[in-house]
Amino acid sequence: MKIEPINPVIKENLSKDDYKKYEEIGVKLLKDGKVAVCTLAGGQGTRLGHKGPKGTFVVPFTKIVPKTIFEIDSDIISNCFKKYGIWPQWYIMTSNDNDKETQDFFEENNFFDIPKDKIMFFIQGEFPLVYEDGSEVKDKDGKIVTAANGNGGIFKALEDEGILKDMENKAIDYLVTCNVDNILVNPLDEVSLGILEAGNNELCIKSIARTDANEKVGSIVLKDGKCTVIEYIDMPKELLDAKNEDGSLLYSESHFGCNYLKLSLLKRIADEKLPIHEAHKKNDEYGSYIKKEMFIFDGFEKAQHTTDIRVRREDEFAPIKNKEGNDSPKTAIELYERKLK
Ligand code: UTP
Repeated sequence: MKIEPINPVIKENLSKDDYKKYEEIGVKLLKDGKVAVCTLAGGQGTRLGHKGPKGTFVVPFTKIVPKTIFEIDSDIISNCFKKYGIWPQWYIMTSNDNDKETQDFFEENNFFDIPKDKIMFFIQGEFPLVYEDGSEVKDKDGKIVTAANGNGGIFKALEDEGILKDMENKAIDYLVTCNVDNILVNPLDEVSLGILEAGNNELCIKSIARTDANEKVGSIVLKDGKCTVIEYIDMPKELLDAKNEDGSLLYSESHFGCNYLKLSLLKRIADEKLPIHEAHKKNDEYGSYIKKEMFIFDGFEKAQHTTDIRVRREDEFAPIKNKEGNDSPKTAIELYERKLK
């Protein structure tokens, strides 16, 4: 297996002419209704520890009125309507654990004034929890315990839940997937959409530059010539540390969960078996057990043509993962409010 660094298109280094050219193509795609957003909201949000779906967490802003994460995400859809008079389709992936609560929340909030038919929820699949010996974890009533199958469950769920069909019926060509918890995510970025279409890409992955060799983020690399993401723990230390002549990191591009996928690619990945990753967990109820998960980026190698688009971290990345410390509401608010200036 040969690992090589990827050469990104750096958005801020585009010439004025290229920027304008891509922007125009992106605007046309949006106006023609060719782009849908898919928010990945099936996760458990264990680290944040908020009761209920992560999207219902109220971000306690200080300079603006506090808003839930789902309301912040909904602004992306509403802003597109304000700018171009078009409501992009918004798909929201939930899990059995949080689907009802999520849908009730949208109902209670009048779908954030987005036409109801422009928001569609779909439920991802599950895997059983297992013990080290492979036997299934059962609850006190003897029922097999299952959990959401990871964000890589999206591909099968898109097919099984009729979303790919829906895209086809509505002549939507591209799906932009984003994590529910990045409050600065910018999926309907016209320039990136333009790069996607103009380059005849089946996939564009947005990246940010890694700040130091030890940052725990997935690296976007070429593996045997195919663009993919290698998780921090699986990336050899010598590659994480490798430098260019000017001292910058050789494997600089990190994945933050904003991906542009063409319908043809989504269909192809839906028919594939993705690798299964195992997380070793422990709780009072079941003791030590294994949670199996698939990752969205394991589908990326199937793309016929991929471009990595590097954007500025401060423009597009403010995740809420932890209660406090790094990637917490506090750090995300600072980043979000700095951008309001
Ligand atoms: P994370 O890996 O950060 O997981 O998910 P999480 O569930 O939000 O938080 P922790 O790890 O339990 O603290 C990245 C994105 O993938 C989605 C999440 O909702 C988030 O948007 N996801 C994750 C799913 O949609 N389904 C899953 O099964 C797992």
